[in-house]
Amino acid sequence: MNNSPFHPDNESAYQQWRREKLLQVPASVEELVVEVRDLKRPTAAEISAIKERCARSNMAVFATESDVDRQALMAFAACFGLNHLDRNEGADDEGITALTVSADSGWRKTYIPYTNRPISWHTDGYYNTLEQQIRGMVLFCETAAEEGGENALLDHELAWLHLRDINADYIRALMQSDVMLIPANEVDDKIVRPDRSGPVFLIDKSGHLHMRYTARRRNILWKNDVLTQEAVAALQELMNSQSAWIYRAKLQPGQGLMCNNVLHDRTGFTDSEQHRRLLYRLRFYDRMN
Ligand SMILES: [Fe+2]
Repeated sequence: MNNSPFHPDNESAYQQWRREKLLQVPASVEELVVEVRDLKRPTAAEISAIKERCARSNMAVFATESDVDRQALMAFAACFGLNHLDRNEGADDEGITALTVSADSGWRKTYIPYTNRPISWHTDGYYNTLEQQIRGMVLFCETAAEEGGENALLDHELAWLHLRDINADYIRALMQSDVMLIPANEVDDKIVRPDRSGPVFLIDKSGHLHMRYTARRRNILWKNDVLTQEAVAALQELMNSQSAWIYRAKLQPGQGLMCNNVLHDRTGFTDSEQHRRLLYRLRFYDRMN
């Protein structure tokens, strides 16, 4: 881990990684799209095309006209080393979550992913324990909304690079183990999730960068030191900018996003009778490989 370019003290490894990374940044979201003829039986060429996109930018968009069901999505994800599903509250028995506007009157009603409201920048599962971080995920569009429901996407390694270029101390601040606190989640006076404190940037055992982040202001406590405040502001400035590193895409039916939990947001949307947005989401503890 100490020779990882993501370690803030590794200046030479960083410079070399930075040069290579910037040469590979896809110019547009179209470069990320890979056609897959049959999702149940992807060819070696299709798999390697997706891996190539992910190696460059931690994400790829696959597009298929074949029939897709939950088993097909699981089998497809497994081609990329994504095997261990996070079974969250909204997932069905198979651990796959159907994201759609909920007619339920229970907790889903107040939980934004099940509404049509916009969702600000985040990585998935930032509130999970450090042992159960979401490293890889798949989002598959069954039906697109009548209007809206676009995602913005930003490779978290580029967000890291941006901050590292401004000030390596920003990285050190955001690697502090108590930099971001998500207070306990209480429903009806019952604690359904205790306080979670942790870093924004982590380096895993194999030297890869992982990010935990949410732009939401309510229910997040940032460490009250100057560097943290400046680093968070610089990150927000990047995400709110017109940077060419930010891709905007509306997944169409048959298209899916596969990524190493990059930063993303979602615009609000409007459903119609024929176009009721339905996306399947699979969250994994594994990183793609
Ligand atoms: Fe998300």
